[in-house]
Amino acid sequence: MTYGKAAQMPPLSPPAIRARKGSEPIVCLTAYTTPIARLVDLHCDLVLVGDSVGMVLHGLPNTLGVDLEMMVMHGKAVRRGLKSALMVVDLPFGTYEESPEQAFRNATRLMRETACDAVKLEGGAHMAETIAFLTRRSIPVMAHIGLTPQAVNTIGGYKVQGRGADAQAVQRDAQAVAEAGAFAVVVEKVPDILARRITLDIDIPTIGIGASAACDGQILVVDDMLGMFADFKPKFVKRYAELADGANKAIAAYAADVRARRFPAVEHVFGDVPASVPDAG
Ligand code: KIV
Repeated sequence: MTYGKAAQMPPLSPPAIRARKGSEPIVCLTAYTTPIARLVDLHCDLVLVGDSVGMVLHGLPNTLGVDLEMMVMHGKAVRRGLKSALMVVDLPFGTYEESPEQAFRNATRLMRETACDAVKLEGGAHMAETIAFLTRRSIPVMAHIGLTPQAVNTIGGYKVQGRGADAQAVQRDAQAVAEAGAFAVVVEKVPDILARRITLDIDIPTIGIGASAACDGQILVVDDMLGMFADFKPKFVKRYAELADGANKAIAAYAADVRARRFPAVEHVFGDVPASVPDAG
């Protein structure tokens, strides 16, 4: 096994991630289960238990159906798999937008029950007050601007954000979440030039997804980069494996073996295998 980071590294903290601004790229992936968390922990600085879990593992059409219980359950599973990466858990839709107090109540539950290091929430300038409220009360916050999937219905789809005149609004969002005290910000699906400008403008790390190689770090949904979905190939995802294809071939081979009585073979069963089964009576 090769390690992409110092194997004996102490657990990373939000301030340590923040201090990486403008230096070594911050490597991030999502994880939702213990086995995947163990694998990504070997290579990643930050692991996000994203609300994308709803679409990736539960077959939901978007992230709006994800609730706090799901995040707690997957958060606990991921915690068991991590040794050194910083663990961030998403606040799902409807659990933080109402008021800073609501956000505080649900963020503390996530932190207490999953032992995560920080929470993530979606939204720019309009969430700045909440981000400040949480960070002043010892809850590290990773912000998320540009395309915010929980707003899919108001945005009208998963479109690139910040094109043309909208670029200034996204830039203002970045400034606002940085000033409010977020330790990092996910910048999703914006033009490369805008992600570069934001990265230069703000003093916290930008974590790009569909953004720019100039961001301070990158994140992808782990199942996307592993090729777990044969037909889902968005432009911003580079596939590093074709696991759906491999799994499909393996399952087909198993089905063929069972139908042909090739499985289980002699080495898979217990005791002697008679040449033929004697007749009863
Ligand atoms: O929910 C998620 O997985 C995310 C990342 C894609 C940034 O928010």
